[in-house]
Amino acid sequence: MIRTVQVGLGAWGTDWAVRVLPEAPELAAVGFVDTDPLRRAEFTALTGAPASAAVDWSADFDAVLVTTSLGAHGPLARTALEAGRHVLLEKPFTLDPAEAVELVELAESRGLVLLVSQNHRFFPAVAVAKEALAHVGQVRNARVSFRRDHRFQALGPSPDTSVLHQLAAHHFDLVRHLLAEVVAVTAHRWRRGQDPDALLSSFSATLELVGGALVEYSASTSSQATTTPWSGEWVIEGDGGAVEWSGESLVNLSRVTVHRAGLPPETVPVDAPPSKAGVGDRVAVVRDFADAVHEGRASSLSGRANLGTVAVLLAAWDSLERGGARVEVRVPGTG
Ligand SMILES: NC(=O)c1ccc[n+]([C@@H]2O[C@H](COP(=O)([O-])OP(=O)(O)OC[C@H]3O[C@@H](n4cnc5c(N)ncnc54)[C@H](O)[C@@H]3O)[C@@H](O)[C@H]2O)c1
Repeated sequence: MIRTVQVGLGAWGTDWAVRVLPEAPELAAVGFVDTDPLRRAEFTALTGAPASAAVDWSADFDAVLVTTSLGAHGPLARTALEAGRHVLLEKPFTLDPAEAVELVELAESRGLVLLVSQNHRFFPAVAVAKEALAHVGQVRNARVSFRRDHRFQALGPSPDTSVLHQLAAHHFDLVRHLLAEVVAVTAHRWRRGQDPDALLSSFSATLELVGGALVEYSASTSSQATTTPWSGEWVIEGDGGAVEWSGESLVNLSRVTVHRAGLPPETVPVDAPPSKAGVGDRVAVVRDFADAVHEGRASSLSGRANLGTVAVLLAAWDSLERGGARVEVRVPGTG
């Protein structure tokens, strides 16, 4: 068991503590931390577990699970690695490319594990789609759509709430996981008339991939149309067929359909994730983390592997800021 202190007890951090950790025997939570006294009080009232204002680095534990807002990801990861602790970090990793490289190198130089929880990689539909892609030949185009109506939530312009950093961070990572690395991004913001001007809630983008395929991407958290699954709705076109998936908003209700030239469309069943609480994707992240800590197994969630996702996010942000300029993706640390 990896004795772990969890830092960050907001909505998502609490969800980790209440729904994920009980299903993840690889981690033993030995402490909970949040700087906000109100959050600590709410957390203790809900769970009965005590929560501290700061991490006691002199205590006996192996790892830190960082579920804070984005600004604290980098500083906390650095402190933890310097204190000899493994780190499992919520996405996005960090928006500072120099910091990302520094943390990756710090972890590697100390023989510590640094993983970013890109949990969508472990959605069952994603695994089925990845397998199906082997049958459709060279991929030429993908159309990816994410729609949800989040206007009822308190949303603001910061990366802690923007659709780019909160949702596209997953979808761009899935493009890298399923298709290929991204070479360049062109992104345009749009908004429904009633959305606050400062809020980045909707944008469309074109991603150019290594090998020449194009991804047409669109995301909105103020959409009035049918809600998509968290991983989005995908249509991937290859030379020998197509793969598509959608669903009724829940992770485990997705359907993957495979089209092959000359054959009727085939709907491939997607097994429900092996989790009572429907958190099988994050349980799988924890398993990956444990394998990396105990067996030194390489993980596709490693901080180093995630540098490419950070780079796509930064390129998209740059393009949005520059009114749709084409921005080449530069992976930090690769010169
Ligand atoms: N993987 C996913 O699908 C997914 C879904 C939702 C959120 N997230 C990620 O989870 C993280 C948390 O999201 P949230 O919605 O719970 O945010 P939130 O704003 O509700 O909570 C963040 C918490 O972090 C605490 N915090 C900030 N800095 C701290 C520090 N230095 N030390 C201790 N505590 C600190 C805040 O007091 C707050 O309680 C974000 O990184 C977000 O991107 C991931």
